[in-house]
Amino acid sequence: MQAPPTELPAWQTLHTHQRDLAGCHLRELFAADPKRFERFSVEAAGLFLDYSKHRIREDTLTLLLELAQQTGLNRHRADMFAGAPINTTEQRAVLHTALRNRAGTSILVDGIDVMPAVRRVLQQMRDFSEGIRDGRILGHTGLAIRDVVNLGIGGSDLGPLMACEALEPYSRPDLRVHFVSNVDGAHLGRLLKRLDPRTTLFIVASKTFTTQETLANAHSARAWLVAGLGSEAAVAQHFAAVSTNLKGTAAFGIPDAHVFEFWDWVGGRYSLWSAIGLSIALYVGMDNFDALLDGAHAMDAHFRASAPTHNLPMILGLLGIWYRNFWGTATHAVLPYDQGLHRFTAHLQQLDMESNGKSVDLQGRSITYETGPVIWGEPGTNGQHAFFQHLHQGTDWTPCDFILPLQSHYPLGDHHRMLVANCLAQSQALMWGKTQEEARAELQSQGMSPAEIERLAPHKIFPGNRPSSTLLLSRLTPHTLGALIALYEHKVFVQGSIWNVNSFDQWGVELGKQLAGRILKDLRDGTPAAAQDASTSGLIRRALDPG
Ligand code: F6P
Repeated sequence: MQAPPTELPAWQTLHTHQRDLAGCHLRELFAADPKRFERFSVEAAGLFLDYSKHRIREDTLTLLLELAQQTGLNRHRADMFAGAPINTTEQRAVLHTALRNRAGTSILVDGIDVMPAVRRVLQQMRDFSEGIRDGRILGHTGLAIRDVVNLGIGGSDLGPLMACEALEPYSRPDLRVHFVSNVDGAHLGRLLKRLDPRTTLFIVASKTFTTQETLANAHSARAWLVAGLGSEAAVAQHFAAVSTNLKGTAAFGIPDAHVFEFWDWVGGRYSLWSAIGLSIALYVGMDNFDALLDGAHAMDAHFRASAPTHNLPMILGLLGIWYRNFWGTATHAVLPYDQGLHRFTAHLQQLDMESNGKSVDLQGRSITYETGPVIWGEPGTNGQHAFFQHLHQGTDWTPCDFILPLQSHYPLGDHHRMLVANCLAQSQALMWGKTQEEARAELQSQGMSPAEIERLAPHKIFPGNRPSSTLLLSRLTPHTLGALIALYEHKVFVQGSIWNVNSFDQWGVELGKQLAGRILKDLRDGTPAAAQDASTSGLIRRALDPG
């Protein structure tokens, strides 16, 4: 039975090492080593990572890599790529990497090669997306499709939504995509006001095809379409589905030709590489979707084969462990300096928090150490005018990832240079800070009186020593986006493996679903059931009589 990581020798050594480094400022680490940037930077699959602004020395990395080795990360990684059932609570393989396997190799699940089926669905996606884009596949009244609406939630929404936003420069103005996820009727209702049923295609994206929100939206969309076109038969031409539940899609009335299969070895939050990415293929074309898969595959190959000291997912994952378990940080900010990545952190939130927000280990034991942190963030420069105050001067500190494409798809005036300057300035300010002496000198140079300086100086001090990574991309393309997403997927894997949790189940979302079912029944019955607690019962009564 695998020992908890806290019992491994490297864990203990890392605690001692942390105490060693605790009094050391990043300013000192930079002063001590002029080669620090070269030493702590690495490049792979089109991404460049500077991790020199971290509270580490070379021996820190060695110790963290020892920890990874002692927890059996290499074996676990090999098991995942080989299709072993590492999702042990659901007895499933974890093979999102097979969806983007461009190496021409076989990958076996229960002795059967999954690659022919993967290629078949990719071909089906190509035929369908090209047919819609070229106008060979038309709507019920003979008009071309102009609006695609993805109806899905969680992994069946966030991944494709994030990717479509990021890849907007590769889209065509005459084919738009929309994403409806919330069961709040306002989400679908607001969109339908703007759409024409004759030119709209709905994709029902649901791995299980049982998710309440998605099915409610799908049924309402269907009613809108039938009412608008005056024909039930129109459903066949205006609906497609992506699911592992082919019985469910058939029962909804979606013809087989418009049903895109995927498999139970693809987790929802890892599914954008499957036919769940159909909206991406429709929006930017199948060649670009293929390039997205290529980028992810390049990161897979890097993760599998690169030396640990040069392995981006390992380094990012281990840095996260370092702060979460040895410095006690509870959150981690992801700050893309690219408007196209404005939903990237939301996608990572599900990816990371649904994967590693666990408190029981793989052997079913209660966990006594911290696991997945809270992931949060917004794009720069917007965040600078909102929550960066807390990052710079709050009483807690938060490790940050800055993500910056070096070339813009929209080279307007000096905008991009300003964006770059702001991004680099923020990580510098976090790391460097401003001492009392520097603050005083600055105020003095502004001609302030000694009394004013005394009063203001404490407020102008920045502690600095706040760590961050900077990830540079030459440009946000399908290929670099694929590599970036896969980087974070593997980072989450590295951490889950060290924490000895199952990163691929999500039982924590079930209780709320069950209770919502009971409360919905009470709302329909017009009275709370006797078994409801006093608070819920009181709230149900208020909901029944909104006033
Ligand atoms: O409720 C959580 C969850 O199961 C996620 O894991 C998943 O991404 C989402 O719901 C949607 O599920 P489905 O694709 O089956 O509709």
